[in-house]
Amino acid sequence: MSYSETDHKILISESGIAERLKEIGKQITESYGDEPITILALTNGALVFAADLIRQIKCPVRLDTLGVASYKGRRSTGELSFRSKPKLGISGRNILVVDDILDTGLTLHGVASWLKRQSPESVKICVLLDKKITKREEEVTVDWAGFEIEDLFVYGYGLDRDEFDRNLPFIAYVED
Ligand code: IMP
Ligand code: MG
Repeated sequence: MSYSETDHKILISESGIAERLKEIGKQITESYGDEPITILALTNGALVFAADLIRQIKCPVRLDTLGVASYKGRRSTGELSFRSKPKLGISGRNILVVDDILDTGLTLHGVASWLKRQSPESVKICVLLDKKITKREEEVTVDWAGFEIEDLFVYGYGLDRDEFDRNLPFIAYVED
């Protein structure tokens, strides 16, 4: 295991991520103004992204987490299992879901459907990475995306490779 940049194929550098987060943070701030928002970071993948992003948002922010796992096995619709639910109230609130990566769309589709049943004021979605795949299984409307990437397996900056490497400050990719 290595923490040196030279031992990884870097897709997005630490400074590249930081620059983009400033832009997204500004856009989110402009979008909500003085309206309070409740950020739900999907654990564990979005923890690093959410920690950096909230410091670029200049509106009143409440922070909570939502733990989900999506199973893509036998059922084509996918099945979402909640490992932990948010403790903060959702009803009547502006919810901003923050996730690491949009892949098949099953996770965010399931989360958005569940959230809408909790009578929020609004639900918006911000992802760090939007994987350009042709076989998206569920359509998900993303309000803010950090980077569009090719259909690669990526890790670092919160994303894991068999649970390791979440602590790398950059995003690297695995070549087939
Ligand atoms: P989806 O339900 O297929 O959209 O899955 C999204 C989740 O799958 C993400 O939150 C990640 O945890 C995981 N995931 C998808 N692609 C990658 C990847 O390239 N690297 C690491 N995790 C990934
Ligand atoms: Mg994950």
